[in-house]
Amino acid sequence: MKESGLYINGKWSRGSGRKTFMTLNPATGNPIADVVAGNTKDAQEAIRAAEKALPAWSETPAPQRAEYLFEISRRLKKDKEKLANHLSEEMGKVMKEARGDVQEAIDVFEYMAGEGRRLFGHTTPSELRNKIAYTVRRPVGVVGLITPWNFPMAIPAWKIAPALVCGNTIVFKPSSDTPRTAAELVQCIHDAGVPDGIINMVTGSASDVGKEIVTNKKIRGISFTGSHTTGEWITQHAGIKKVGLELGGKNAIIVMDDADVDLAVDGIIWGGFGTTGQRCTAASRVIVHEKIAKELEEKLVQRASKLRLGDGRKTTTDVGPLINERAVEKSILYSQIGRKEAKLACGGKALDTKGFFFEPTVFTHVKSNARIAHEEIFGPIVSVIRVKSLNEAIRVCNDSQYGLSSSIYTNNIANAMHAIAKIETGITYVNSSTIGAEVHLPFGGVKGTGNGTREAGIEGIHEFSETKTVYIDYSGKLQKAQGIE
Ligand code: UN1
Repeated sequence: MKESGLYINGKWSRGSGRKTFMTLNPATGNPIADVVAGNTKDAQEAIRAAEKALPAWSETPAPQRAEYLFEISRRLKKDKEKLANHLSEEMGKVMKEARGDVQEAIDVFEYMAGEGRRLFGHTTPSELRNKIAYTVRRPVGVVGLITPWNFPMAIPAWKIAPALVCGNTIVFKPSSDTPRTAAELVQCIHDAGVPDGIINMVTGSASDVGKEIVTNKKIRGISFTGSHTTGEWITQHAGIKKVGLELGGKNAIIVMDDADVDLAVDGIIWGGFGTTGQRCTAASRVIVHEKIAKELEEKLVQRASKLRLGDGRKTTTDVGPLINERAVEKSILYSQIGRKEAKLACGGKALDTKGFFFEPTVFTHVKSNARIAHEEIFGPIVSVIRVKSLNEAIRVCNDSQYGLSSSIYTNNIANAMHAIAKIETGITYVNSSTIGAEVHLPFGGVKGTGNGTREAGIEGIHEFSETKTVYIDYSGKLQKAQGIE
């Protein structure tokens, strides 16, 4: 079996401890690599390496930093098929989506490389004569990136690409469920010639590596995607650092009585069962107008029960496995809760085979206050809630601790505009599912989903830079602002 190491100061190593853990293929439960379990000491070494590399990297002109990003994106493109195959083996998603995951990484490196020639600040007049004022973007410093397993290539790339182009140096802790994919991304960054110490990767547990990254004072910024509980822990322990959080969702698709029902069902299948429901943006609630509820439920159940579960690398598979045993247990638990709260229309069981499989599941007649309508399941379980009006639909949609993504299917422009205005989420789609964000637009959410930062797009640059305001007075005399004589 292959071994995957830590990457510190440009070198792969076995770390200071002797511990390893295994990464599994979720379709079979078989191990695919032995991974070094880094510890607090290793994390500190990585932080030191990043600190040492910071002055030279932050002083490198941004267009030159961007050249590395272009090269990384070229290399990812060249190896796309191989990387997607490995990603699918380790994470379980079907090949089409695994390619999409790698593509999203390619896209974000390309987009952020372009930022190397922008990194815009702004200029504005001074209130005084012979004085100019403008802003420039400065790196945050050493940043800690903590990423989940569900987009094992795209989400690290969303963070690494802007962090690099803005001139930060990085300590990266990937999820322990997908360390091999992370290692392949880091290898690609190494092969693109990014100098030593600029990116460092420490695999290992949250309680050792994660904790050190979050609490170490030398780290100036944290970007985290993962659970709400961990996000709260980070805000309590990070101290005075710039913290960016993306903590999931309980995203809803509203389907109005004037909608194209077949189109809506396509969107629900894709948003609810794509990536086996394991996206922060997954459509886990469907809020449907009662006039078309029966038709929609029948069509949805018919389509959902035909989805073929299997190994993501087989072309006959529609829905891959869940990530691990715990995820299966969670889906089992929520399907038991759902049976008491609502009507099970299809699915509801784990497969009695090797690997971590759970059937695409639909609950109908779900009440808006049910647990399955509120708690993030991160599995292939969709709850259908009936409503009587658009206002009620919006109210139910907003009755959530989260606020990441949302969608409305309607052919009435006024319905769409009201929904866009009133839904409390960071992203709203019209006549399209809740998933599939593009890298050049900001991504993130409100309420329990985050703390106001956005990733990707231009706002991804804001997450990884600080603004410096510059005043230049060339009047040759002491001038005072605010009209002071
Ligand atoms: C996530 O699940 O955290 O919009 C990210 C989407 C993907 C990204 C999801 N582009 O569904």
